[in-house]
Amino acid sequence: MPLRSRLEGWLTPPKPYILNPREHAVNAPLGRWNLYIGGARQRVPGYVNLDIFAMPGVDVQADAHALPFPDGLFTRVECDAVLEHVQNPGRVVQEIERVLAPGGWAHLVTPFCHPFHEYPKDYRRFTPDGLRELAGGLEVIDTGWRTGPAATMLVFTLEFVKLLLPWRWWRALAHGVLGWLLWPLRYLDVWLLRMPRAERLGNHCYLWARKP
Ligand SMILES: C[S@@+](CC[C@H](N)C(=O)[O-])C[C@H]1O[C@@H](n2cnc3c(N)ncnc32)[C@H](O)[C@@H]1O
Repeated sequence: MPLRSRLEGWLTPPKPYILNPREHAVNAPLGRWNLYIGGARQRVPGYVNLDIFAMPGVDVQADAHALPFPDGLFTRVECDAVLEHVQNPGRVVQEIERVLAPGGWAHLVTPFCHPFHEYPKDYRRFTPDGLRELAGGLEVIDTGWRTGPAATMLVFTLEFVKLLLPWRWWRALAHGVLGWLLWPLRYLDVWLLRMPRAERLGNHCYLWARKP
């Protein structure tokens, strides 16, 4: 690996969040065919990776509003941090339901308290109740918070400080310095995610649903 990439790797602070282990308490095994929606620039072994952009890692370039697959093909569909970027999330979930096989699993993840981020647009935010409303004919098995109030506080603090800085390299420096100083606070979520009140400032929420 080139020295520059190695240096960048060492200087990049740890992520400002921890993941709620409860999210993966559901047993939703992969099948022969599984679909990952929105995985540009990622490797997603075991899945067909579909994205609206033809980028490294993408197997199928298509719009999630009209999935180019027959009914009932997939055992599992992952849709992680995508529904906020589509014009009609209800339509996308209908498509997920259509391409799932009976008994197949859908896993949706969406932001709630999270900064504006365009991929290529950013239309909205969600709550677990909002995800339940979208599920349509799917049977909801579990909903909850993936990342909690400490993640929200850290992500917004970093964004707020960067907002005040006029130059890109200052922003990169602030991100590195503050990221390294503040990251241990992410562990507050071990405690906060157990509180029902965590939802007031939750960062990302999830839903697991099954096609009857
Ligand atoms: C925030 S990224 C999520 C990346 C990844 N799932 C993750 O959690 O790190 C959103 C992805 O959804 C893709 N996307 C946005 N609109 C889409 C659409 N209508 N159909 C398919 N993919 C879309 C974007 O190109 C982008 O790769």
